[in-house]
Amino acid sequence: MNIQEIIAKKRDKLELTKDEIEYFVKGYTEGKITDYQASALVMAIYINGMNDREITDLTLAMAYSGDVLDLSSLGEVVDKHSTGGVGDKITLILMPVIASLGIPVAKMSGRGLGFTGGTIDKLESIPGYHTSISVDEFKENVKKINISLMGQTLNLAPADKKLYALRDTIACTESIPLIASSIMSKKIAAGANKIVIDVTCGSGAFMKTMEDAKNLATVMTSIGKLAGKETVCIITPMNEPVGYAVGNTLEVIEAVDILKNKYMPKDIKNIIEELGANMLVLANKVQNIEEGKNLIIENIRNGKAYEKFKELVQNQGGDISYIENTDKLEKAKYIVPIIAEKDGTISEINAYEVGRLSCYLGAGRQTKEDEINPRVGFIFNKKVGDIVKSGETIGYIHSDDEQKANEILKYNVVKI
Ligand code: URA
Repeated sequence: MNIQEIIAKKRDKLELTKDEIEYFVKGYTEGKITDYQASALVMAIYINGMNDREITDLTLAMAYSGDVLDLSSLGEVVDKHSTGGVGDKITLILMPVIASLGIPVAKMSGRGLGFTGGTIDKLESIPGYHTSISVDEFKENVKKINISLMGQTLNLAPADKKLYALRDTIACTESIPLIASSIMSKKIAAGANKIVIDVTCGSGAFMKTMEDAKNLATVMTSIGKLAGKETVCIITPMNEPVGYAVGNTLEVIEAVDILKNKYMPKDIKNIIEELGANMLVLANKVQNIEEGKNLIIENIRNGKAYEKFKELVQNQGGDISYIENTDKLEKAKYIVPIIAEKDGTISEINAYEVGRLSCYLGAGRQTKEDEINPRVGFIFNKKVGDIVKSGETIGYIHSDDEQKANEILKYNVVKI
């Protein structure tokens, strides 16, 4: 068997065998298959797709490319994952809520991919927070404070770690086989037996149509079943950014403000209620979704989720004075207002454009090695459907480069 033949088969729309898929995943993880060969195969998969059997074999090969955690000693862990979005800070809000309700949270998160953000990049904008911890530390954290959020370590689904970073730089993110295998391999390796997946749908998601979102959900649910994991997929809208903030530090501030009960955007409330209630049902904490939704909101209102978030940050080396007073977090040099040019109703805040332009400002990566700029992004004052007056400030661009901010103003990401 050799990699050229495997690439040629997928290029020619043929089905790959289990052995061929395993050969590729093992060879790439071990560095015997190069980035350029992997890029060619990934592009062929992107263009020609994979059937359900191939996707399952790819997922399992990736999941078992490193260690597979056994979390049974921690109790009934329910994991959560999102297929990605713009302004998606749901993990930062929801996971402390879940932990504060007594359900162990042991979650491995990702970095930004394409135009979407990643929880690990967001957490790293908190000074001192360690996302690279050992698996032993991860488990110890959960035993001690009921929650740990970490990045993908080298030895958990290492094949996904390499492929995820590669896909980001070769325009191969929006693909059902690649997304399904990426998410499910990580979830299988991370050891939870119950998983809730937020399948985002809309301009700011990888799945642009309801049909694609439903297909992705079906594929992931069936992989979960085959791997013995109870998997629930919830489709959520992603046409405008989630909440009001986009960009790493800006999203941490918004998450903290929500946990502090300063405000609660309606879209975020809907998403955390829906995902959270399903997690609570899977964990056997509640009998029905309505009961679950009430508990989620209650633990934000009574401050328990905020206290849990601070405990998480402190326990992973973060400086909680930045959480207690988010004004201390470093801001971008230029904060340029976006002004409404006429009276009317906001008809669109294009999540894809906002995500793409945030990356252009430095919030995401152009190459695997790029450092991100945590300070940059957008803050909106309005959501779609809100009424505005001519001359009103509808948002701000946060940039370290004045020229880039002025350039972005011309894109009219907010339509009236
Ligand atoms: N999230 C992941 O973990 N992988 C993807 O491919 C997309 C979103």
